[in-house]
Amino acid sequence: MLVKLNGDDNLAGGLTLEDALFAARALDQEGIDAIEVSGGTPASGDLAPVRQGISTREQEAYNLPMAYRIKEAVSCPVMVVGGLRSFEVIEGIVRRGEADYISMSRPFIREPELVRRWEKGDEARATCISCNGCFKPGLKEGQIYCVVNKIERENKGMSL
Ligand SMILES: Cc1cc2nc3c(=O)[nH]c(=O)nc-3n(C[C@H](O)[C@H](O)[C@H](O)COP(=O)(O)O)c2cc1C
Repeated sequence: MLVKLNGDDNLAGGLTLEDALFAARALDQEGIDAIEVSGGTPASGDLAPVRQGISTREQEAYNLPMAYRIKEAVSCPVMVVGGLRSFEVIEGIVRRGEADYISMSRPFIREPELVRRWEKGDEARATCISCNGCFKPGLKEGQIYCVVNKIERENKGMSL
């Protein structure tokens, strides 16, 4: 059993990294199998959990500093989620031991085969543009899909 934990709410008056460290240590002592570190709330503006427009390496892995602090405080594996897009960035994080595992969400909505693609040697960055368009069908149509893929498919159909 693992827990997804906010490293910081990124909100005035919200939970801080100190609170997260307290919770992480307690969970670790109770024998949790892993902690996945996220951060922010939908009210946290630019520091929300699902940030948009991740186009540079510097914008990737935006929860890593908190995940690393938590990793230093616990003995269970720590995972980091949020903005991971490049194989190189991910490999660096794991090799340097800054996190034990990484998680991705939106990249798999656009490219369910992403890891297989990387495994086969095509290490180009995930094609997800972090637009958050995938939330809309989830809320309105009861299913989640990549709206960019849909538009591309429709445009292809029109040009045939
Ligand atoms: C459509 C969608 C639904 C999500 N639902 C949840 C959720 O119910 N609970 C949660 O903790 N995070 C949820 N997330 C956040 C993701 O788990 C992840 O933390 C976030 O998208 C950042 O990772 P990414 O940059 O790889 O997408 C959702 C994300 C997306 C795109």
